[in-house]
Amino acid sequence: MEINKINANTKMLGLIGNPVAHSLSPLLHGELSRSYQEQYAYLAFPVAQENLETAVKGAWALGAQGLNVTVPYKREVMNYLSAVEPKAELIGAVNTLVRMEAGYCGYNTDMPGLKKALKHDGICVAGANVVLIGAGGVANAALCMLLEEEAANILILNRTKEKAAKLAEHFMPHYPNAVIRVASLQEDYIALMDEISSERQWIAIQATSVGMHPQITETPIDAMEFYERITEGVDLIFNPEETRFLSLIRQSGHKGYNGLKMLLFQGIIAYELWTGHKVEEDVAEKILTVLQEELKSRA
Ligand code: ATR
Repeated sequence: MEINKINANTKMLGLIGNPVAHSLSPLLHGELSRSYQEQYAYLAFPVAQENLETAVKGAWALGAQGLNVTVPYKREVMNYLSAVEPKAELIGAVNTLVRMEAGYCGYNTDMPGLKKALKHDGICVAGANVVLIGAGGVANAALCMLLEEEAANILILNRTKEKAAKLAEHFMPHYPNAVIRVASLQEDYIALMDEISSERQWIAIQATSVGMHPQITETPIDAMEFYERITEGVDLIFNPEETRFLSLIRQSGHKGYNGLKMLLFQGIIAYELWTGHKVEEDVAEKILTVLQEELKSRA
């Protein structure tokens, strides 16, 4: 059987956001439907803000099985759905729409995607001290994952301390046993880290946009005293493959991983929601290689 040849039975999937031109999701989902010989076509749609509602409702009217949603619409899109899964509601962001009878249901697959990525890298946040850098959209999903996994101590570092405090306050009522501290990147957060953990052992998750292509020489944190306290780190950026943040973690002799696996697994979980079947590990590995090669070819 010839696969992925568009015919009258091909179902539509897609991505809405702005911009979407450099997204890896069409490649990721094209590979997934090829792997399972399924008739899906996944396209990237740049959508202007004033057309967001029409785009979501129009996609549903056209019969699209599902959509991914990326920046800047992960929050706003919630206004145009017929249901939102409770965890996505708590995170305040939806990145996956699944077709239902009367509209789309919104899910957040970034959170479980990050959880799977950490597992894949052998990082266990349960019972660990974790420093989360950033308090924006991605940090929301990361914090929710840390709370779900029951990290022992969570320290949120952000340029704007108020935003970190707001993020912590938002989640605290839902996880009353969690220990969350916040600090700004301008204050003495090293002293705070040592006060929280005398063993000086922390897992770091970098969830700001600092260091992203083309600003590849930037990092939210320069101080080597910080990196000395990090046993393992993840930078949620994947372009460049090694950010300055990751390079400093590795220079201090520790393991660092980029955000490509989070992208991979959030896509896989979305695909599983759309198709109702499980994606095996060997397929995930194969697609990871395809994504890595694509990024190399773009560098
Ligand atoms: P995203 O949805 O990708 O997380 P965002 O909501 O705009 O994007 O958040 C970006 C994050 O990067 C924030 O934590 C932001 O810090 P502020 O809350 O202080 O704005 C952080 N960030 C962006 N530029 C930064 C910079 N130059 N130095 C330090 N942090 C920065």
